[in-house]
Amino acid sequence: MSAIAPDAEIQRAVQVLRAGALVAFPTETVYGLGADASNAAAVRRIFEVKGRPADHPLIVHLKGAQDLRLWSRDAPIAAQKLAERFWPGPLTLILMRAPGVIDEITGGQDTVGLRVPSHPVAQQLLQAFGGGIAAPSANRFGRISPTSAQHVREELGDAVELVLDGGACEVGIESTILDLSSGHPVLLRPGRIGAAEIELAIGVPVARPGAHAPRASGMLAAHYAPSAPMILAAAADLDRVVREQSLRVPVAVLARRARPSDSRATLWQGAATDAQGYAHDLYALLRLLDRSGCGVIVVELPPERPEWEAVRDRLMRAAAGSGGAVAGASGSLEADDAT
Ligand code: TXA
Ligand code: MG
Repeated sequence: MSAIAPDAEIQRAVQVLRAGALVAFPTETVYGLGADASNAAAVRRIFEVKGRPADHPLIVHLKGAQDLRLWSRDAPIAAQKLAERFWPGPLTLILMRAPGVIDEITGGQDTVGLRVPSHPVAQQLLQAFGGGIAAPSANRFGRISPTSAQHVREELGDAVELVLDGGACEVGIESTILDLSSGHPVLLRPGRIGAAEIELAIGVPVARPGAHAPRASGMLAAHYAPSAPMILAAAADLDRVVREQSLRVPVAVLARRARPSDSRATLWQGAATDAQGYAHDLYALLRLLDRSGCGVIVVELPPERPEWEAVRDRLMRAAAGSGGAVAGASGSLEADDAT
């Protein structure tokens, strides 16, 4: 586990990519399952290994902002500004695709998702490879994204030829996705970089997706799911919900405060009280709670504030994907687009 990979390891990864096989690699957000983005057969193998529907587009990872024009066309001035401000970093831009970009990447759409990751190992790999690396998160479709090399091996086993180990991912949740392919910027997926920061950089308001936003699997309500049902409870409801559930099944709790002395929870896992620290640990903790053998995972829902938006988004999806619920809301969470 090191933030820098030995040269020999990077050379081997480059050979694997050139041969049309897959390399899992660390980014600052989550681990990616990478293939040569200009090799259609290699990209198709990503979909096979992940079990992901072929019409879900992939992000192309680039070594630097200078490659943006090789992969996109008609990029608005906002794209340049954002690239300068946030790349390398956890921001994906959706732009009109350049003519050479293959359909396997874009799912047949006329747009392409691009990002320059900042993780040193991702940078080493991209610099040595030279070209674009298509990579979704290195999990099976619909499951929690991996934030360590160990998670990748648990998820994908021998299906991936090589896993580069770059330690635990710093951000811990997937990149912010901003669609710049139409006249106005649309935030497709919240992440570490918030809408306010983006607005400040481009001087234009950022819209939220409407009913006709482009297809993005990260936007499915049912996504990032653990296998035990997950219930989200507002801070004020947490103790009551844990008490009620404990009468039924063993309960694992994720909360931003310590365990009360009278709690019946089987497992009480404390989480960071700041949003970035919370995001950093979130997926590893959900995996841990999921493995505890509990009947239900109860998570204290962080406040509805801008800095918590991305964490709340992932928690809502995880709860929906697990067949869980938001305590206090009527009925269970619906997967509004779970195709
Ligand atoms: O942080 C991340 O973005 C990680 C690391 C590995 O870079 N990658 C990642 O990829 O989360 P993935 O495939 O798990 O999620 C990317 C999301 C998907 O929801 C995909 O549908 C969406 O980006 N996407 C990709 N290209 C798109 C496009 N042209 N239009 C709309 N959505 C797109
Ligand atoms: Mg994913």
